[in-house]
Amino acid sequence: MKRLAALVFFALSVAVLAQQSPEAPSGFDNKSNGVVDDATHLADQGVFEGVEQVKDGLGPLYNAQSCRECHQTPTSGGGSQVTELRVGHPGPHGGFQNPEIPIAHGTEIITGRSLVNDRAICPNAAFPTTEIQERVPDSETIQATRLSFSLLGDGFVEAVADQTLIELAREQCRKSHQEICGQVVQVPIVEAPGQLGVGRFGWKDQHASLLSFSGDAYLNEMGITSRLFPTEVTLLCNTASEPNDTPGPDGLGDVDRFARFVRATKAPARDAELAATPQALQGAKLFDKIGCNVCHVSALTTAPAGTKINGGTFTIPEALGAKTFHPYSDFLLHDVGTGDGTVQAMQEHYGRNMYQIWKNLNVNSFASSQNRMRTAPLWGVRLRPRLMHDGASYTFRDAIMRHRGEAYRDAHRFERLSNREQEALVEFLKSL
Ligand code: HEC
Ligand code: HEC
Repeated sequence: MKRLAALVFFALSVAVLAQQSPEAPSGFDNKSNGVVDDATHLADQGVFEGVEQVKDGLGPLYNAQSCRECHQTPTSGGGSQVTELRVGHPGPHGGFQNPEIPIAHGTEIITGRSLVNDRAICPNAAFPTTEIQERVPDSETIQATRLSFSLLGDGFVEAVADQTLIELAREQCRKSHQEICGQVVQVPIVEAPGQLGVGRFGWKDQHASLLSFSGDAYLNEMGITSRLFPTEVTLLCNTASEPNDTPGPDGLGDVDRFARFVRATKAPARDAELAATPQALQGAKLFDKIGCNVCHVSALTTAPAGTKINGGTFTIPEALGAKTFHPYSDFLLHDVGTGDGTVQAMQEHYGRNMYQIWKNLNVNSFASSQNRMRTAPLWGVRLRPRLMHDGASYTFRDAIMRHRGEAYRDAHRFERLSNREQEALVEFLKSL
């Protein structure tokens, strides 16, 4: 009787929760999820797609001219095949040390970052002998490439309460008897000096805030300085005045509009036709049964509208508050045997004077992420022909079989499924 009562109570509370938390809108229609009106969203998309030139401050070192170059498919804000190069070398006790990359015939050494930019604006007509292209020195033996993410629906991810992720990590560890324990990393909120939040963006969970990430990407991918990241990586060949990104008449810089664009995107929609097939439905059940959903969590709910996040600098709007969405990720770091050996570089992601500002930062927690990666969110994974952080797996089966470490048992359980069951599970992944 007691058990029945508990079950009824559980069913009721699930029903109440579902009622309280409507589904986040999904789709690839370039329409706003409600954070702004459609016209504003389209204008923000235009800024996200803007192609920067040298006169705008592009470079001196950079990877691409526009956010859209790497975040594009099937629509602006999606992912792409573009990978980035990160290197470093082992330090004492095997830890990761940032690389030292000489440019301009060794007259300048780039430090404080792990990223190696693939492009540079000079030598050019104005600076015909200034050789600044970064190249990997032989000393940098830890080498990794990392694939671009889709940003669609990331506003919902940002709006998940820190506590939700902390509890998720605790529960998952408890339930799996310490076998699967996602790592939570507290990271600086760049727009709120001194404040921390639970990291959830990037392959190493290096950011909690989309505004922080936008400033980081604008500098490190495109070489555009902003109020959040005012210092160029190098001043060689630099001609534009700093910061390159200045606020428009409405007081918003490009970085603010990038963040607003991403916050207003809808979540990736599923392939409804495929999702409804008996095979994909069976695959969904198997996915849960063999424990894939312990890390690839199928549903999360955002904090209520009005909640202040990002060190108090952002208030969750109605459109993002108390919404349920389906990312198939816990946004935690795990060692599944694919760790790339890198650790996020502090200055690169949080700014040059970060050590003065974030005195309470636990740098050790960063070091222990060396062989961990964020659980890749599987929403929209059907639109991504290259899989895993390095893009080196081309089939779902290969991606699954690469899971070792914390996910060893799950990969093994997949291996032991019958052929038909394996196919059903893959069919389910193709519908996400
Ligand atoms: C050269 C390619 C490239 C360009 C250009 C680029 N990005 Fe990215 N972006 C990436 C890669 C690669 C990642 C994964 C980074 C990592 O963790 O190493 C990423 C990750 C992100 C994330 C985190 C998404 C998530 O779900 O974790 C955000 C947000 C983002 N980029 C925003 C931007 C914005 C805004 C711009 C333009 C200012 C931009 N990016 C330009 C390649 C790019
Ligand atoms: C312990 C946590 C964990 C478990 C359990 C787990 N995964 Fe993963 N999964 C990850 C992590 C972490 C990555 C990213 C690894 C990388 O890129 O190096 C990932 C990546 C993936 C990818 C690649 C996605 C992409 O966008 O590149 C697929 C597909 C995938 N997992 C499917 C599965 C399936 C199916 C199962 C069950 C058999 C499973 N995973 C179990 C943590 C887990």
